[in-house]
Amino acid sequence: MELISVEGGRSLSGQLTVQGAKNSVLPILAATILSGDVCRICGCPRLRDVDTAVEILQHLGCRAHWAGGDLVVDTTQLTSSEIPEELMRKMRSSVMFLGAILARCGRADMSYPGGCELGPRPIDLHLAALRTLGAEVREEGGNIHCRGSSLQGTEVVLNLPSVGATENAILAACGAEGVTTVSNAAREPEIVDLQDFLNKLGARVQGAGTSTVVVEGKQPLHGCEHRVISDRIVAATYLAAAAAAGGDIRLEGVDWRHLSTVTNALGAAGCRIQSGDGGIRLQCREPLRGIHPVRTSPYPGFPTDAQAVLMAALLRSRGTTVFVENMFENRYRHVAELLRLGADVRIEGRVAVVCGVSRLQGARVRATDLRGGAALVLAGLQAEGTTQVEAIHHIERGYEDLPGDLVQLGACVRRIVT
Ligand code: UD1
Repeated sequence: MELISVEGGRSLSGQLTVQGAKNSVLPILAATILSGDVCRICGCPRLRDVDTAVEILQHLGCRAHWAGGDLVVDTTQLTSSEIPEELMRKMRSSVMFLGAILARCGRADMSYPGGCELGPRPIDLHLAALRTLGAEVREEGGNIHCRGSSLQGTEVVLNLPSVGATENAILAACGAEGVTTVSNAAREPEIVDLQDFLNKLGARVQGAGTSTVVVEGKQPLHGCEHRVISDRIVAATYLAAAAAAGGDIRLEGVDWRHLSTVTNALGAAGCRIQSGDGGIRLQCREPLRGIHPVRTSPYPGFPTDAQAVLMAALLRSRGTTVFVENMFENRYRHVAELLRLGADVRIEGRVAVVCGVSRLQGARVRATDLRGGAALVLAGLQAEGTTQVEAIHHIERGYEDLPGDLVQLGACVRRIVT
């Protein structure tokens, strides 16, 4: 069994360069299919989810290899337009391949990605967008069959600003004749990164980062080299870690504008934050205090992916903080594990109330999902004694080396194989 073991009680100091963004690189890897050429993804994070995306590309007949920290993908050959169920089950984001495969092949078949540890995660908006572009989409026995060899640019209106549906619509629109306008698009920085990548391939996409994205389809595309943006959620995790454990850290290469809701919350809790070009410094010398309610919402609101790690930072704060989770139904599963360490958190539907306690005690806990798992490690940093976190495959889906990075900042954290 693989565990992360944390000895609590050490403050953090030093600097760290944050890995490339998982949520950028996954749609970008899907987008490489559109190029039919060689693409070099610089600073690609080495993650379980990236391995799964590579397995999907290889299954489709493409080639991929690592060259140092870069991933080189050759999509010249595409021998299949079908993703088997075992790969779809490994990662929900496999659904990102739907729009890209459809645009390149005129057809795509895959199984339904189903629910996940955060609760039901429908893909109705993805499918509706593809249908609007003229694809015939059949859902049958847990499988999705898409056909559309002559997609037509048009207006795609999303009922919700879904990140994945926005990306799938953009990818499919690259293969559609004429102009597509995606309205009520999600505005996440990772969508801007996808746009930048597509434009380097020769596509014409504009407006990402706003609610309206315009795609001129059917441009001749070719390979390119692209460096993914840094991972704002990993950055949020390390800022929350320093807030939880106390200390003085600097994160390099992070775009502070992507993190302002998180840094505002940590600032309100008593941390000193200096944000500028090239990095963010966080100093935390005093015990934290409870803050105004934290409501998760689509970007530029407070990210649902940072909810658990901020909660972990506030477990020993003075006072009370209310969290309202508006994005996913089942995103408080880490709370039951935090209680084992002596935390005081109560949940009522979408609301969690954190009352700061004076001390936490190390315990054996189990990661329930990616960010919830990171939150348990952060709780361990401030607990007395040893905390052991099980089921760390969840954490490794999104963090290249969480224990190693925390050690670099002075924490006592080890990955153990028993
Ligand atoms: C992306 C991120 C994930 C983050 C989430 C919300 C990636 C790879 N993952 O996930 O880390 O937590 O954004 O910021 O980028 N919805 C529907 N129907 C759909 C699609 C979504 O009802 O067809 C709902 C979802 O259930 C959820 C909300 O829309 O309640 C937002 O989900 P969405 O933005 O699509 O998240 P993902 O793209 O899956």
